[in-house]
Amino acid sequence: MKTTISSKLKKARDFEAHYGPFINDSHRPVFHLTPTIGWMNDPNGFSCYKGEYHLFYQYHPYETKWGPMHWGHVKTRDFLHWERLPAALAPDKPYDKNGCFSGSAVELPDGRQLLLYTGVRQVREANGELKDRQTQCVAVGDGRDYTKYAENPVISAEGLPEGGSPVDFRDPKIWREGDKYLMVVGNRPADGSGSILMYESQDCLSWEYKGVLASCHNQFGRMWECPDLFELDGKHVLLVSAQEMTAIGLEFHAGNGTVCLLGSYDEESRHLIRENVQAIDYGLDFYAPQTLLTPDGRRVMIAWMQNWETSTCQPYNTSCFGQMTIPRELSVRNGRLIQTPVRELESRRSYQILYKNVRVNGVTTLQNVRGRVIDMTVTVRPASSHGSYEWFKINVAGDGEHMTTLRYKPECNTVRIDRTRCGFPHDIVNVRDFAAWAKNGELKLRLVLDKYSMELFVNDGEQAATTVIYTDVSADAISFESSGSVIMDVEKYDLIDGRDK
Ligand code: FRU
Repeated sequence: MKTTISSKLKKARDFEAHYGPFINDSHRPVFHLTPTIGWMNDPNGFSCYKGEYHLFYQYHPYETKWGPMHWGHVKTRDFLHWERLPAALAPDKPYDKNGCFSGSAVELPDGRQLLLYTGVRQVREANGELKDRQTQCVAVGDGRDYTKYAENPVISAEGLPEGGSPVDFRDPKIWREGDKYLMVVGNRPADGSGSILMYESQDCLSWEYKGVLASCHNQFGRMWECPDLFELDGKHVLLVSAQEMTAIGLEFHAGNGTVCLLGSYDEESRHLIRENVQAIDYGLDFYAPQTLLTPDGRRVMIAWMQNWETSTCQPYNTSCFGQMTIPRELSVRNGRLIQTPVRELESRRSYQILYKNVRVNGVTTLQNVRGRVIDMTVTVRPASSHGSYEWFKINVAGDGEHMTTLRYKPECNTVRIDRTRCGFPHDIVNVRDFAAWAKNGELKLRLVLDKYSMELFVNDGEQAATTVIYTDVSADAISFESSGSVIMDVEKYDLIDGRDK
């Protein structure tokens, strides 16, 4: 049956088909997804469908700023090369006229793909204020065209527990368990904080409220958005994106942050029993992560590589804005979430450069160690077994005037990422410190650069820290620097697209 496309969706599809190709691919990162045109925020509907990975995203094609949300759409087989598909959803119904907000996707037993998203419509309240009404809605399709369910929304205010706010009720994550479907979704209870609700369904259309999985009680932010729940290495893991956080030590910074709660799930009470709480990414640009389970059993996470607070600060003359992170494989080790870039990235490594036991004291550069699309691992240790050093730095994206730096201070067990000199013409947060520990005196730093971003993985993924930079790609110098004597090993690869152009 042919799907009828609304005029709003057709307009978005025509617009992206017309203007998208004007963005020269050489201006985009090589592996990190950017929107076809315009603005992108959260990843949505990250899932397997008919043997391919589909990814949708919060999308405003017409401008490089947030606006009435559509869903952009791409698919991939390797998490690195993204095939662009026409926009999947437009805000074209009375119940989602102000936006098709974040959500998720699942393959149905009959071979169709179901999208579950938050429909937003604004109403004028008695005091004259315009306020959202957020409800959960369904669309079903063939991997390209989707029809919204005639009886949408499938969950509205009546389906909320007592005191639950219909204004903040969003971002459903769906998965299948046996013969039923489960959903976690963010909501704001009466105390004004955040909670994650669970619902269950046999057919994805009629949903039954099952309980509160976790509440924040105004700790770790207030409203919790974009929840994701899964089992991993014997633990249950809940990821949430928290608004209005206040800083806690070096673990959580203020503002919008991401929180990972690890524990066990009590099936009867539907409650997550917390054992550990940590930040997901310790950098400057990371929000709204979402995961999928691959057929070979990997839990893979992707996130918006941006930060709400600074997302209005953009390079000039840009026709698309927003990037996703490299998808990351997750595991749990010693009660902590571990992240490493998807293993597919290793197949894109070329031109290996290896240096062993290089002594650094002051500034050092190494022949052939430069580049802006690279995968580089640096292992650093003190020059003598009982010696120490004050700090060690790696400077990337350098050209004399510009550079982005990471610095490790063994005495304080901290890593600092600093993009103050990346050439960005806005006064925004540029520095972030986080805790990291050497093992037997040795610290391992893996850096993935893809033109306009740096993703750092410490000690095989014990900490991840992500930042965007907009330095011109001609700034590709890399140098190493220390105060005190260190010995380092460097393994560096260029990352090569590998597609026939
Ligand atoms: C998170 C978020 C979601 C919402 C979407 C709107 O970044 O605020 O809660 O669904 O973005 O674009």
